[in-house]
Amino acid sequence: ESGGEKEPRSPVVTVMGHVDHGKTSILDAIRKTDVAEGEAGGITQHIGAYHVRSNYGDVTFVDTPGHAAFTEMRSRGAQVTDIVILVVAADDGVMDQTREAISHSQAAGVPIIVAVNKIDKDNADIDRVKRELAELDLSPEDWGGDTMYCETSAKKNIGIDELMELIQLQAEMLELKADRKRKARGRVVEAQLHKGRGPVATVLVQDGTLRTGDHFVVGQFSGKVRAMLDFKGQKIEEAGPSIPVEVQGISGVPSAGDEFIVVTDEKMARSVSQKRALK
Ligand code: GTP
Ligand code: NA
Ligand code: MG
Repeated sequence: ESGGEKEPRSPVVTVMGHVDHGKTSILDAIRKTDVAEGEAGGITQHIGAYHVRSNYGDVTFVDTPGHAAFTEMRSRGAQVTDIVILVVAADDGVMDQTREAISHSQAAGVPIIVAVNKIDKDNADIDRVKRELAELDLSPEDWGGDTMYCETSAKKNIGIDELMELIQLQAEMLELKADRKRKARGRVVEAQLHKGRGPVATVLVQDGTLRTGDHFVVGQFSGKVRAMLDFKGQKIEEAGPSIPVEVQGISGVPSAGDEFIVVTDEKMARSVSQKRALK
C-alpha cells in the first residue's frame, strides 16, 4: 500500500499503579469530570480510554485497574502505550502493584513518568517514595537520575498542569508519528458482548484512519465496521491515529491485546480470520 506522509500524532498515555493510589482521580482532575465517583466501590474494573484536548496538546489516556486481579489488563495497557504515568500514593509508598506496573512498563520498553499523589495528606512522605523507586531503577532527575517526577494531589488539584507539561515534554522527545492516509491498524483495549450492540471492542487506532464500512480482521474474527462510538458515546464516522473507538460489527468477541487490521474487502477479511481460527 502506498503510504502518505508521516505526520505527528498525539501520545497514548497509560495510567498505572497500586489500587486506590489515585489513578482515576488524576484522570478526573485532568478531564474535570467525575468518573471515579460513579464507579462501583470506586474500583476500576475495566480499561477506560479517553481523548483529551488540552493547552498542552491532545493526549489519549488509558486508565487501568490497580486491583491485584487485573494483571492481564495492566500488561495490555503497557503494550498499547507510548508513556506510562506511574501513580504512587505518598502516604502508602511503593506497593505490590506498583512494582508490577514498573515491570510491565520496563518489559514493554515504555518511558515512565512518576506522579507522587496524595501529597495533601498529613502522613505524605515524598522522599520515601523517591528512595523506594530509586531502588527500582527510577531515580528522579533532581537526584541525578533520569526519571521525571511530579508531585500531585488529585483531590486538591495540585500538580496536574505540571504533569501535563511533563507528558508533553516526554511526547516531544519520542517524536511520535503516524500516516493517517493508510488503512487503519490498531489494538483491542477491551471487548465485550453488549446486549443491544452485539460484540463490541474498544480499539485504539495506532496507524491509518478507521472508517465506518471498513472491512477488518481482529484476532480470529472479522467484520465490517457497522458503527463507531467515541469514548463519550457519540457516533463518529472516522478515527485517526491515537484515537480510541468502540467498534460494532465484529463476528465475535476478540481478546484485549488482539491486533485490529483493516483489509481490502470482505473476502480477504474472512479468509484471514478463518486461517487464524484454525491455528
Ligand atoms: P483503582 O482503580 O481501584 O486501582 O483505584 P485508583 O488508583 O483509580 O484510585 P481512585 O482514583 O479511585 O482513588 C482512590 C481513593 O483515593 C478515592 O477515595 C479518592 O478520593 C482518593 N484520592 C485520590 N487522589 C487523592 C489525593 O490526591 N489526595 C487524597 N487525600 N485522596 C485522594
Ligand atoms: Na479505587
Ligand atoms: Mg481507578
